[in-house]
Amino acid sequence: MFAPITLLTLLAAMSIFLAITQLVTIRQTRHWVSHSHQVIETTQALLGEVLSVESGQRGYLLTRDPHMLGAYEASKAALPALMTRLSDLVAASPEQRRRADQLMSMARQRVAISEMRVQLVQAGRIDEAGKVAWLSGNTSMEGARSAVNDLMAAENALLERRTEAADRAEWLSLIVAMVVSALALAGLAASIWSMAIANRRLAHEIGEREGAEAAQRESEALYRAIFANTADYLFVIDISDDGIFSVAELNPAFEQATGITTVAARGRDIREMTSRALADRFIGHYHAVIAAGRPVFAREVNRLPEGLRIWESIHVPVRNEQGRIDRIVGSARDVTEREQAEEQLRRAQRMEAIGHLTGGVAHDFNNLLQVIRGNLELIAADVADRPSAAQRLRNALHGADRAAQLTRQLLAFARRQPLEPKVVNLGRMVGDMADMLRRMLGESITVETIIADGLWNTLADPAQVESAVLNLAINARDAMPQGGPLSIEVDNARLERDAAQLGGDVEPGEYVLIAVRDTGHGMEPDVVARVFEPFFTTKADERGTGLGLSMVYGFVKQSNGHVQVDSEVGQGTVVKIFLPRAHQDETAAEPAVAAGPLEGRSEIILVVEDDDLVRASSVSLLHDLGYTCLHASDGAAALELLRAGVKVDLLFTDVVMPGPVRSRDLASEAQRLKPGLPVLFTSGYTEDSIVHDGRLDPGVQLLSKPYAREDLARKVRALLARARPVVLVVEDDPLVRMAAVDMIGALGFTVLQAADATSALTVLRGDGRVDVLFTDIGLPGMRGPELAQGAVALRPGLKVIFASGYAEPGAGAGVDGSVRLVKPYQQDELAEVLGVAMAS
Ligand SMILES: Nc1ncnc2c1ncn2[C@@H]1O[C@H](COP(=O)(O)OP(=O)(O)OP(=O)(O)O)[C@@H](O)[C@H]1O
Ligand SMILES: [Mg+2]
Repeated sequence: MFAPITLLTLLAAMSIFLAITQLVTIRQTRHWVSHSHQVIETTQALLGEVLSVESGQRGYLLTRDPHMLGAYEASKAALPALMTRLSDLVAASPEQRRRADQLMSMARQRVAISEMRVQLVQAGRIDEAGKVAWLSGNTSMEGARSAVNDLMAAENALLERRTEAADRAEWLSLIVAMVVSALALAGLAASIWSMAIANRRLAHEIGEREGAEAAQRESEALYRAIFANTADYLFVIDISDDGIFSVAELNPAFEQATGITTVAARGRDIREMTSRALADRFIGHYHAVIAAGRPVFAREVNRLPEGLRIWESIHVPVRNEQGRIDRIVGSARDVTEREQAEEQLRRAQRMEAIGHLTGGVAHDFNNLLQVIRGNLELIAADVADRPSAAQRLRNALHGADRAAQLTRQLLAFARRQPLEPKVVNLGRMVGDMADMLRRMLGESITVETIIADGLWNTLADPAQVESAVLNLAINARDAMPQGGPLSIEVDNARLERDAAQLGGDVEPGEYVLIAVRDTGHGMEPDVVARVFEPFFTTKADERGTGLGLSMVYGFVKQSNGHVQVDSEVGQGTVVKIFLPRAHQDETAAEPAVAAGPLEGRSEIILVVEDDDLVRASSVSLLHDLGYTCLHASDGAAALELLRAGVKVDLLFTDVVMPGPVRSRDLASEAQRLKPGLPVLFTSGYTEDSIVHDGRLDPGVQLLSKPYAREDLARKVRALLARARPVVLVVEDDPLVRMAAVDMIGALGFTVLQAADATSALTVLRGDGRVDVLFTDIGLPGMRGPELAQGAVALRPGLKVIFASGYAEPGAGAGVDGSVRLVKPYQQDELAEVLGVAMAS
């Protein structure tokens, strides 16, 4: 860059120098030319004046007219000045000075001669004047002229030399100028070229710099966008030399969470910006960062405008060029919801684990209690005549019942109690309970029930709802030792997703809400967190078992509901139970089983139970009740018996059994082999095989262990009574047969069918239950009446119904108690004859 500038400067200086030299030379040349011209002109003028003096004096000499002396005098007067001038002009050249002197002396002589002549004429001495001659050749006019010529020739020669020198100098300067110009041009070209290169490099550098700047701008914009839009709370803290922590920058998320803005906070000591506690905590982190010299993680609970929030934060040191930590960049994240969800999950998992444990314990206890209870009841008859032993037996039975009650409560918590949900209107139920509650809670408690209009129905086990409300009411009473108001509110409720999430595992949707509210002493949050745990109680002196709310919890969860406790110390408590809405009408109350004798009539019961002791006690109890028992220790053995064709009137099976055949499969296979066979399950635990969605599968009959002799007697009797009678329909016309099967099935009977008498007899020879033979009279081959006789012979006591298209005299002959139905028959006619047949 500097080289071309130096070169150009040099060239410019040379050009200026050359120009000045040239100017000086030209001016000098011009001066010398003009000088030579002046010398020549002065010489010629001098010669001319001398000639004018001479011609003036000659004319006077001839004419003697004084007027002729005018020019003479004028020229004479001019001569001294010309001579002085000439002397001055040739002063620098000795040669020319010598010639000039010679000329001037000659001129002076000629003028002196002329003066002399004039004076002689004037003195009248004309002749003398004529005789005055020009003194020598020196003074002759030719001499003067030659002196003039010499002078002028010398001057011309001088001029020529000078002109030549000037020409040479001009040429030289021209050549130098051309060389300099060429050099200048080359220099210019070199400069232009180097400037072009420099330009290109500069453009490249500028381009690169612009690119880098654009990239920098882009990355800054990106960082700013991240800073502005991230949901994490970002903050930058400056640390002054004297250790003051001040705010440098806060991102919008931070501003929103804390209510502190960058504009208000920038540059200010953080102690001025927030509460003392928060500032101290943060400053503590910063000191830790400075001491450690690396990032520090922290978790803390901060009181913010939104309430108490849990933050997880990281504080990272930033060093300046001297290596001092002068900044801290921090990022925090609100983990409140996550931690709450984790806590809820942990709680749910803990409850689940406790549930499994209690469920398992209850199951085993129920089996043991069944053995104890069963045997105690079997001894009863033996000690009936010994009052003290009988009393001890009753005490032992009472103890076993108390234990059974406890295991039932544990099962309820473990969501394993057998529920019998029905569609109920909780408003009506709670209304019905009000009086009972008033009596039970005493006068100091004022019970108020608030039932919303248009209340939805719900699907729940009514007995369990009652027990839950009772438990809550007792808890409320216990919380108000001085008495007070207790309100039970029943209303429709819609749980939204947010509210549902509050409760953890509950589905949003429509529920019926029962809220039991008291104004008692309330609970601390840590008590609220544990109220559903089994055996958690704050009641002293064994006044509470801590199972009340556990049962409520288990029952509600098992019913796909949700339970929530809100309590404040000194204010009171409200427990809310949400049970799912049912869209069906209320289930009609089942007619009570007619009270009748509970003893067996030698019906055959197949008892399937893997526990030897339990099986032995069940079999003994059933024997005692008047039943005949077969027994098997697992499903496979039971199936073998059934397949062997033994007669069985009821299957009584444990739910949980070892072996490949599960109790549910055993039941269905048994019913396939023996249509209409009633099945009674028993369990110390509600198994998933018979419970779905928290309730027993439809049609499943369950007797929970441990059961009393009377429970067993009642249940077995009821099932046998309710067992669907089996009707064997014999009809050759397939369409007619199909219609008959449908109609009889619709009346609640189990229906078997045969197309002719032979197949009907095959069925009857088998061991399956058949209560009624419903046969056409005009069958191909063996006719109806003959079939009936054969059938009754095979199965004494079998009821017979003849169906015929026309009145056939003597059709019923030979079959006692047979009934006739004329085709086509109506459903009610069919019902009537079947009713008559079964009653007979
Ligand atoms: N309405 C209430 N007001 C205040 N505390 C209550 C209320 N309901 C329950 N609690 C607290 O919850 C604990 C557990 O209640 P829960 O009903 O499960 O057991 P319990 O009442 O102690 O015993 P149990 O019901 O088995 O007789 C109680 O001991 C009591 O501390
Ligand atoms: Mg209680």
